[in-house]
Amino acid sequence: MLVTAKDMLDKAKEGRYAVGHFNINNLEWTKAILLTAQELQSPVILGVSEGAGKYMTGFETVTAMVKAMDKSLGITVPVALHLDHGTYEGCYKCIKAGFTSIMFDGSHLPFDENVEKTTELVHAAHHLGLSIEAEVGAIGGEEDGVIGKGECADPEECAKIASLGIDFLAAGIGNIHGVYPDNWEGLSFETLDAIKKKLIADGVDMPLVLHGGTGIPDDMIAKAISLGVSKINVNTECQLVFRDATREYIEAGKDQQGKGFDPRKLLNPGFEAIKAKVKEKMELFGSVGKA
Ligand code: 13P
Repeated sequence: MLVTAKDMLDKAKEGRYAVGHFNINNLEWTKAILLTAQELQSPVILGVSEGAGKYMTGFETVTAMVKAMDKSLGITVPVALHLDHGTYEGCYKCIKAGFTSIMFDGSHLPFDENVEKTTELVHAAHHLGLSIEAEVGAIGGEEDGVIGKGECADPEECAKIASLGIDFLAAGIGNIHGVYPDNWEGLSFETLDAIKKKLIADGVDMPLVLHGGTGIPDDMIAKAISLGVSKINVNTECQLVFRDATREYIEAGKDQQGKGFDPRKLLNPGFEAIKAKVKEKMELFGSVGKA
């Protein structure tokens, strides 16, 4: 059932668990995530980066595929179709294409410009019933060719952006996209705590988003959730298990046995690996049975 991400994240905030945002790249990814969410009776967010949207031939293709698949698989759990790290133009394209949620990432812009564009996009999204995420303090690592280093957001700036009417906020707390380097210092819970306190003090408390979910140790995930994180983004980890399972299949020579070259067989180990990874994350985040 396609819905916005607002209600599911408000409920997660109340219930002190997090909803997984899993990036999709193609049909296999989408089907694996939807089926797992349904099996576990968990709400879920399908994240689409601008690069993945382009790869799938555009946001309209993505919307058509997700809507049709949601229906044909009989998915009854809440599913949000969400733009990940959207540009200003990308946000409008997704609003038009029928997404149910967008993220405007103005974190790399001068702060005043981030405020101005976020304000405009809040109105545009809410006017058509979409939820909207904004970002303060760049997330490190590489996302669609844009490289940033893990930055901690300023609580004052978080409160300002939160006051614009957004539905949930991504705030950098030392998190990085992709695999964490060996010398990573870990999440800054001090920053997360300061942000949360400032939002409460200013009367703009809302679900917080943790990007760069890949490779964050389980105890840090649990602590982040206890401090107010209600949405956790995972992308690289699904890519890695897909790669490993596909490699294993080919290295075992299974693609050369019988009809093992059939893409439905060749892609199946990767598909099953994504299902298992998504299940593991939903259990860790506490969203199982919360649909
Ligand atoms: P990872 O690729 O590190 O899991 O991060 C995903 C993400 O934050 C997408 O916005």
